[in-house]
Amino acid sequence: MTNIFTSEKLLPVHKRFDLIFQKGKGVYLYTEKSKYLDFGAGIAVNALGHCHKKMVKAITKQAKKMWHVSNIYNTSELNNYAEKLVKASDFADYVFFCNSGAESIECAIKMIRRHFYVKNQRQKYRIITFTGAFHGRTMATISAASKQKYLEGFEPKLEGFDNVEFGNIEAVKNAINEHTAGILIEPIQGEEGIRVSDKNFIKNLRKLCDEHDLLLAFDEVQCGMGRTGKLFAHQFYETKPDIVSTAKAIAGGFPLGACLATKNSASGMTTGVHGTTYGGNPLAMAVANAVLEEMLKKDFLKTVQEIGIFLKNELIKIQKKFPNAIDEIRGEGLMLGIKINAKIDNGIVVKKFIDNYLLTIPAGENVIRILPPLIITKKHVNEAISKIEKSFNELK
Ligand SMILES: Cc1ncc(COP(=O)(O)O)c(C=O)c1O
Repeated sequence: MTNIFTSEKLLPVHKRFDLIFQKGKGVYLYTEKSKYLDFGAGIAVNALGHCHKKMVKAITKQAKKMWHVSNIYNTSELNNYAEKLVKASDFADYVFFCNSGAESIECAIKMIRRHFYVKNQRQKYRIITFTGAFHGRTMATISAASKQKYLEGFEPKLEGFDNVEFGNIEAVKNAINEHTAGILIEPIQGEEGIRVSDKNFIKNLRKLCDEHDLLLAFDEVQCGMGRTGKLFAHQFYETKPDIVSTAKAIAGGFPLGACLATKNSASGMTTGVHGTTYGGNPLAMAVANAVLEEMLKKDFLKTVQEIGIFLKNELIKIQKKFPNAIDEIRGEGLMLGIKINAKIDNGIVVKKFIDNYLLTIPAGENVIRILPPLIITKKHVNEAISKIEKSFNELK
């Protein structure tokens, strides 16, 4: 195939760097001539790196066996993986599979509304959400997040969301009224710049939900599936939610989303009220199963925690070397952020990293997200750190 840099046939909604990747292996992505250390992992997707042999084996085997079966039939891939994921979630009774993060949030929103509908409490339909959250780009998810930048030109937004200050428990208390049905929170905000909720804040949300008969839904699309060093972010927060939406890393690069829920919160989700064509497709299930098996291996998550601490400490050393350029290092596990000083645009730093063959992801609050594959070793950390140090030296 010829190398077209930017096809004018693509709807121009994405701004792309001038890089054409041709293949990926482990923690590296390759253009025709160069090798890049991938510390962005497709925005927290390639949890096992690129073309992990277990994933390749699983998808190849499944591709020869069966690709797609409608949800009007059963497959063992679907049923077996559902059993495994629900068990690993530590809280859920059910899972619904879909194809993206936004769809997994849509399911959570519909589930909250339906729960009170079937309880004959139809006045309860509103959901409390938080400033800075990102839940996807569908109409419901941009309405939930209520960020003007993403709503502009698409209004009127979907009714029924009360957006309050992230981390402010008093604001949540004040927003609760007879119409409130639930709370939807991204416990560690990714797009907004790795903003980590306080553990007490999350525990207090649980308390409020119990006191007011509300459902607590976590958006773990980015922070779930091993990122924090726990399989699910709610395990990191030691808090049992009612609903968890996840996607991204769940199938390591194959499109898949999942909405996990307790039996009680899913009480309204009966036959025919929701559905999907592709969700739970055998190809997706086969890859997700391979990913989950790896993540559940003894020491996998412990290693994520250890390497996360090592990486964070190394980044803190860099911050000390460049105090005028870096304000803060933040985050948990392998979901880390470098907050760049307001004098320098984070996009310029991300571009500089690219010049030094390191891939990272820009985010809100002038932060650069460090979201490497969960399989990185100290060797990869050292390589990244020397590229980061070189970049800041060159930026001086
Ligand atoms: C926290 C969070 N929720 C939802 C989404 C939407 O996921 P998708 O792009 O797969 O629809 C994202 C995507 O970045 C996300 O980070």
